[in-house]
Amino acid sequence: MDNAVRNEIYEHAKKWVHEAGELIRQKINDPMIIETKAHDKDLVTTVDKETEYFLAENIRKTYPEHLLFSEEGYGDDVTSLDGTVWIVDPIDGTMNFVQQRRNFAISIGIFHQGIGEIGFVYDVMADVLYSAKRGEGAYKNDEKLPMLKSELELGEAVLGFNHKWLCENSVIDEKVVQQLVKRIRGVRAYGSAALKLAYVSEGIVDGYLTMNLAPWDIAGGMILANEVGAVTTNLSGGEVNMLTNDSTLTCHPAIQNEIIQNFLVKGLK
Ligand code: IPD
Ligand code: CA
Ligand code: CA
Repeated sequence: MDNAVRNEIYEHAKKWVHEAGELIRQKINDPMIIETKAHDKDLVTTVDKETEYFLAENIRKTYPEHLLFSEEGYGDDVTSLDGTVWIVDPIDGTMNFVQQRRNFAISIGIFHQGIGEIGFVYDVMADVLYSAKRGEGAYKNDEKLPMLKSELELGEAVLGFNHKWLCENSVIDEKVVQQLVKRIRGVRAYGSAALKLAYVSEGIVDGYLTMNLAPWDIAGGMILANEVGAVTTNLSGGEVNMLTNDSTLTCHPAIQNEIIQNFLVKGLK
């Protein structure tokens, strides 16, 4: 992607993300309609939909040739990453949004010809914007995030994953996960995939594992994490599919192989 074009897209997206965040903050204490989608823990609110609509309108007006791949129904039917594709989750962490009124994010990953070029994760209530352009590093607001430290032992690592990993489930033997939990320093569950990936890019969490998420949950955060030297595969060690649901492991490169070989390969069903 031409650098001048990329810079222009980045500046537009940054402005729209901030504006969308301001609209959410204005509505944060208003009564909202909460509905469920795939199951009773999969929530969506009027604010999720309004935020996606706001972003979709701006993207379409300014870049009619770009495609939008998004969660709440205002996107296109995206079947390939040819051209420029915006992968958008208007609110990642809707349960946090509903229960806590904080700890949720707007997530945007912008891909060109299949390559992640621009990533944003905006922690709306904290007003912290994580952003990255491929090859130019990742930022937390205006502060450039350092590259991950050169070495890391698995025993010192703090990993992000949720309670489902320790319950009986269809993806992985929970007994193997219990061994992993005993091996590492700690586990954190934040309720937003996008924020967890931003924390990997900030170096405050050393890795993040998901069993089955949509591209919009991870697109923005993966681009950020990549810029500080973190690596991403699915749980089997293969490339993550950005067109459909997949598993992911994003982590410090020093612990990737050990997690996959000593735990995931042994536990995956
Ligand atoms: C959810 C969050 C959460 C993850 C869920 C996702 P949503 O996204 O990323 O951390 O565990 O599986 O669906 O629904 O709040 O956009
Ligand atoms: Ca999400
Ligand atoms: Ca969402």
